[in-house]
Amino acid sequence: MIRTIVVATSRNRAIGKDNDLLWHLPDDFKFFKETTKNHHILMGRKTYQSLGKPLPKRVSIVITRNTEFALPEGHHVVSSLEGALAVGEQAGLDEIMIIGGGKIYKESLDKDLVDKMYITEIDANIDGADTFFPEFDKSEWTEAERIHHPADERHQYAFDFVTYTNKKQNRSILDWREELAESNELLDFQEFVQTCSNSSETPQNWNADRFIAEYRDGYLTLSDDPYYDVIASLNMSLDSFKKHFSK
Ligand SMILES: NC(=O)c1ccc[n+]([C@@H]2O[C@H](COP(=O)([O-])OP(=O)(O)OC[C@H]3O[C@@H](n4cnc5c(N)ncnc54)[C@H](OP(=O)(O)O)[C@@H]3O)[C@@H](O)[C@H]2O)c1
Repeated sequence: MIRTIVVATSRNRAIGKDNDLLWHLPDDFKFFKETTKNHHILMGRKTYQSLGKPLPKRVSIVITRNTEFALPEGHHVVSSLEGALAVGEQAGLDEIMIIGGGKIYKESLDKDLVDKMYITEIDANIDGADTFFPEFDKSEWTEAERIHHPADERHQYAFDFVTYTNKKQNRSILDWREELAESNELLDFQEFVQTCSNSSETPQNWNADRFIAEYRDGYLTLSDDPYYDVIASLNMSLDSFKKHFSK
């Protein structure tokens, strides 16, 4: 299960004040809605209370120490971050969205539980915040995508939608080969690299050794910077990956 943070921060890392946001950016709100739709969203009790109710078309998982806290049917109350992730694992999710707030972002990054981050980077220093996104070491993350949104009459600030992926989760295909040498999946692996290298569907400059492979929970994701979008979206089992690339 991929664990993904979704957040909007200012240059000075501000994310909230008085249990509310510090800006009104409709296109970022739209991005948040589209990104989290049909997913499980994991959050601290305060963020839940700032939303006021479960967001439609999403399953809420709320972390609190308050044993009396209750949510409408179909949503989950848990007493720890690990408990929240376990709900996602038990539900067999491909991805879980960590939507805040400051406490939950910090704990999940401190414990190295995050694979991907969608950060809306607002191009302004915003004063008066009481909640901040934690510092993180950018050298440990790959900036996979950056889309600029200018300021306009509906948006007071310019901002970028940035996708970061955790380098630790992205092992080189060679590391993966070593790991697979221990298991009987090695033959399958060699076969699919061969298949991919010969396939007419593979990009011309395919180079298996340059690939970033991630294989977890029965799913395989491959990426190669120039083709990041294309290949990263092929998030499937080894079997269906092979089928897809076979002539
Ligand atoms: N800009 C953005 O993208 C964004 C996104 C989300 C939120 N926000 C903002 O962030 C602010 C809220 O963040 P916050 O840091 O104050 O609160 P929070 O992280 O949303 O929630 C904190 C609460 O979660 C529970 N909790 C946290 N860690 C826990 C743990 N390890 N075990 C059990 N329970 C735990 C506790 O609830 P109990 O006290 O009930 O025990 C704690 O008081 C608001 O201003 C909100 O608008 C901004």
